[in-house]
Amino acid sequence: MDIFETIGSRRSIRFYQTWRPVERWKIQTMLEAARLASHAANVNALRAVVVERENITEEIENATLPVNMQLRLAPTLIFWYGDLAAWDDQSETLKKLMQVGALAPGFGWSEAFIDDFMVPMTKAASEAGEQGAIMTALDAGLGIAQAQLIATTLGLGTCLNPFFGDAQALFGLPETARIWWVMTVGYPAESPDGGGQRPREDFEKLFHLGRYGEPFPRDDDVVEQLEEAGMIQEPAPAPWRKDELRALAAMFGLPE
Ligand SMILES: Cc1cc2nc3c(=O)[nH]c(=O)nc-3n(C[C@H](O)[C@H](O)[C@H](O)COP(=O)(O)O)c2cc1C
Repeated sequence: MDIFETIGSRRSIRFYQTWRPVERWKIQTMLEAARLASHAANVNALRAVVVERENITEEIENATLPVNMQLRLAPTLIFWYGDLAAWDDQSETLKKLMQVGALAPGFGWSEAFIDDFMVPMTKAASEAGEQGAIMTALDAGLGIAQAQLIATTLGLGTCLNPFFGDAQALFGLPETARIWWVMTVGYPAESPDGGGQRPREDFEKLFHLGRYGEPFPRDDDVVEQLEEAGMIQEPAPAPWRKDELRALAAMFGLPE
């Protein structure tokens, strides 16, 4: 599966083969992909706690929605969080980027620029509001997306769920940690294509050229090529999807 097909084939999967554990190497590969994502100032604030089925307590399951069946069906949960304390190392991580030749002096990068401008600037922005949390959440989004795509190529399904629990009490996380999302991971019990690609807002509504209100022109030839490459796929719902949902509900003892 190349990157086009992987992006096109990813679905949020909500029904899992409860009887089939996910191999550790596959979870590790997802985490490795998240680690390699682009990170603001390279501080690597994205972290995760992985919990496998035998260790998923009721307390953990209840830390999302009051009754979240999706979590109960998943063999593995990944609690993705950001540690805001990672920003304390910004001076070192930026300097390391200079040392490896990623940030070039030609663009004005120097140790003095980092310590006298970059670090105080982001510190002030964080103290003035939630800038640190926003940047960390963006980091998390990029890493989580990479992990999802790897999961798709490895035949796994994933879905994100909100977290309302007490991260310190449940996992002993430091106070600077913010759990963003709980990811369910497992082999899909539903069709991996989920009955088609889920709806999106119109391309022209989302993307602009030059200024707001000027839609970025969508070239039909490009769309056709992306369809051939498997990135743009048949839209949901497939005609059999309702029957599949009924069958899945019966199988897992859920209301239809
Ligand atoms: C930040 C975030 C939070 C989400 N929260 C939930 C959720 O609580 N429950 C759920 O079933 N799906 C959740 N989703 C999945 C979206 O509903 C899903 O991406 C959307 O339906 C589009 O479908 P697709 O992912 O199959 O393309 C979440 C996705 C993201 C990115």
